[in-house]
Amino acid sequence: MKLYEQLADSLSSRIEQGFYQSGDKLPSIRNLSQQHGVSISTVQEAYRLIEERGLARPRPKSGYYVSTQRGLPPLPSTDQVLQKPLQVSQWSHVLHMFNRPDNDLITWLSVALPWLESTTLRPLQNTLSDLSRRVGLRGLAYDRLNGAEELRRQLARVAIDAGCQLTPDDIIITTGCQEALSITLRTIAGPGDIIAIESPGFFGALQAIEASGLKALEIPCHPEHGMSMEALELALEQWPVKAILTTPTFNNPAGHTLTDENKQRMLTLATQYDIPIIEDDIYGDLAYSYPRPRAIKSWDTEGRVIYCTSTSKTMAPGLRVGWVAPGRYLQQVMHMKYITSMSSTTLPQLAVAEFIAQGGYERHLRRVRAHYQHNRDRMQDWVSRYLPAGTRASNPQGGFVLWVELSQQIDANKLNERCQARGVNVAPGTLFTAGKKYRNFIRLNYAQPPTAEIEQAVQIVGEEVQMMMDQD
Ligand SMILES: Cc1ncc(COP(=O)(O)O)c(C=O)c1O
Repeated sequence: MKLYEQLADSLSSRIEQGFYQSGDKLPSIRNLSQQHGVSISTVQEAYRLIEERGLARPRPKSGYYVSTQRGLPPLPSTDQVLQKPLQVSQWSHVLHMFNRPDNDLITWLSVALPWLESTTLRPLQNTLSDLSRRVGLRGLAYDRLNGAEELRRQLARVAIDAGCQLTPDDIIITTGCQEALSITLRTIAGPGDIIAIESPGFFGALQAIEASGLKALEIPCHPEHGMSMEALELALEQWPVKAILTTPTFNNPAGHTLTDENKQRMLTLATQYDIPIIEDDIYGDLAYSYPRPRAIKSWDTEGRVIYCTSTSKTMAPGLRVGWVAPGRYLQQVMHMKYITSMSSTTLPQLAVAEFIAQGGYERHLRRVRAHYQHNRDRMQDWVSRYLPAGTRASNPQGGFVLWVELSQQIDANKLNERCQARGVNVAPGTLFTAGKKYRNFIRLNYAQPPTAEIEQAVQIVGEEVQMMMDQD
């Protein structure tokens, strides 16, 4: 047996025996080479072999980590049936989720809050605290209706990563992505109109649909590859759909991503039916691999795609800095922005512009992408370990939410009540549909560092699910 094979065998058996657990960082190549008195290339060969065996995965500039892919829970099931357009309700459930008690004792697995403690966000905080002194009265005045010029210039640069060629004048700054979505919907559709949307879909988008008197036509999705193009085509044939609203990259809650081919196919279908696509790309920059997936907007030559996103997941939601590139609808969306909230708050815009310009955003992204990937591995591992056999979970390649399918017997709203009584909460699946689906699904946030407290929270969810199944 060759030296690298011996080394690979010894590391493999340490992984198999649980000495290194899913998501753990493995020793560095240099360390192993010194410890075992072998060359760097021997260790590299050993790691290549371990990777081939599916036991470890490299992460850019960070080294090798134990893979969880072997013990992954199976992917959630999908419902391929196309239903009819529905009026959205569920507001009381959404309100319940946002009315968080001031209770430090609760472990929040429900809310899609990013990791705010990352030290890479400190420059942003520092800028925020001294900006008002530096910019004087500008911080107290209205900014331009479409937002601060310096921010729009930086965002046009950031959009290049998603494959989009934009100028600062193509962009309107909004108060979060939620405002971008709601003013867009109100611009392009009116009461009774039908909007095609992924199923499951983000509840904020569903609420915006409801508030504008629209109807949601939920399109079935594949757990890894997103919206079914066949189902979308059928929907467009059957119903007078006014627009497609999609989160095609690291979807919330399901985590899937449309392939480049299907992103182009969706655009072709939209062109054929002459309707706009509202693309929500809020998680796109949080890809675990580089380059990040392209946005549908990157193929748009007609201004048909209305691109919406924000800094809420990539930086911090309290900034309330979002933006929309409305393409051919620019003037109408600008008017809707004016009548909704006029210009957005000035200081956070300037702070975000400076953070990006000084390279802080890129540094932060590098850090959180690796962090979220590591946490995903941990969370998948805990779900496999602590939730009853048969539980299914998504396998997102970006972002920080996991979509979990429980046994059919489980009512996730009841489960959430039971978990809250034990200091944990989860987001019940019924939030993510206008219909009656996903009763036995939950969404878990894995943005926070995977501490013993979070592990215990997942254990509690598992115990409660098991008890509910036993009582049934
Ligand atoms: C897919 C998606 N779109 C939009 C939003 C709203 O973002 P913002 O906080 O920037 O308004 C969220 C927030 O959870 C989201 O998950």
